[in-house]
Amino acid sequence: EKDVRILAYESSCDETSTAVIKNGREIESLIVATQIKSHQRFGGVVPEVASRHHIEVISQITKEALAEAKVTWNDLDAIAVTSGPGLVGALLIGVSAAKAASMATGLPLIGVDHIMGHIMAAQLKDEIAYPALALQVSGGHTEIVLLKDPVHFEIIGDTRDDAAGEAYDKIGRVLGVNYPAGKTIDAWAHQGKDTFHFPRAMMEEDNYDFSFSGLKSAFINTCHHADQIHEKLDKYDLAASFQAAVVDVLADKTIRAIKEYQPKTFIMGGGVAANQGLRERMSAEIAKLPDAVKPKVILPELKLCGDNAAMIGAAAYNLYRDGQFSDLTLNADPSMEL
Ligand code: KG4
Ligand code: ZN
Repeated sequence: EKDVRILAYESSCDETSTAVIKNGREIESLIVATQIKSHQRFGGVVPEVASRHHIEVISQITKEALAEAKVTWNDLDAIAVTSGPGLVGALLIGVSAAKAASMATGLPLIGVDHIMGHIMAAQLKDEIAYPALALQVSGGHTEIVLLKDPVHFEIIGDTRDDAAGEAYDKIGRVLGVNYPAGKTIDAWAHQGKDTFHFPRAMMEEDNYDFSFSGLKSAFINTCHHADQIHEKLDKYDLAASFQAAVVDVLADKTIRAIKEYQPKTFIMGGGVAANQGLRERMSAEIAKLPDAVKPKVILPELKLCGDNAAMIGAAAYNLYRDGQFSDLTLNADPSMEL
């Protein structure tokens, strides 16, 4: 069978990325231009700043992705791009670049859902057996997703308020950690103990939904109260206590979902899937399951957990095989749903 080579774009938030992906599995090139430094002094992503940075680098990193893969436009079979969800002005830059490339070359265009992309980072590591179940945890989303096949997804659990990564970033601000705070809090957590016993929301409820705003408030109140009485709290114990609460609810609900749906593969995806505490806990919990319901586990490489175009190219390949193409009316859809 002929190889399928896809040039993919990702610009939904604060990374501009391009990649060339062969057969949905092999990364021939991956370029990630991060803008995090420009947003840090504002304590979060500023949409206008993001759009401007995307425009500045997108042509250059298109050339770089082709050069690194040692291919020309003639070697490509399709152009893929994240069309949502995300920041509308940021998404538009990638969508416009991909449409221009598709129009100029005549190559088919494929609009990709960002969440489907995060989940398909797993496909770049190992073959996914279906049905599969994914825990998708990032700065914008916290979902348990059931995959019937490579292109049919159903969300069975979602967050009612803050996403897990958002909670990390918000409590990070209280501790004086630069945005995005997840990685630092994760490292601190490994040096502390769960001494604060923060609430585990919705653990006992018979659904697969999450809530992190109560945990965030409890954390902030604890810090403010200590401030008022001039008590100094241990930042490592605070981080460890926060992370233990997050990991407990994520692991508990996900294991329950695995027992109910009995998937052949378990996948983690999204920026928070880089969390060492969560990776270790999920692997350990799954190892304890009886063989009959023990899924194969795919944890994507750390650098593919955050936003990148390689995952978009992987997901686009599945859509390509399924004949799901977009036309030049493709638009950025900031609140796109799987
Ligand atoms: O997937 P991503 O790059 O962007 C979105 O689509 O949201 O995720 C970014 C989020 C940020 O909130 C960041 O703090 C969090 O992922 N994150 C982590 C870790 N690394 C990144 N959270 C917890 N532990 C980590 N090691
Ligand atoms: Zn993302």
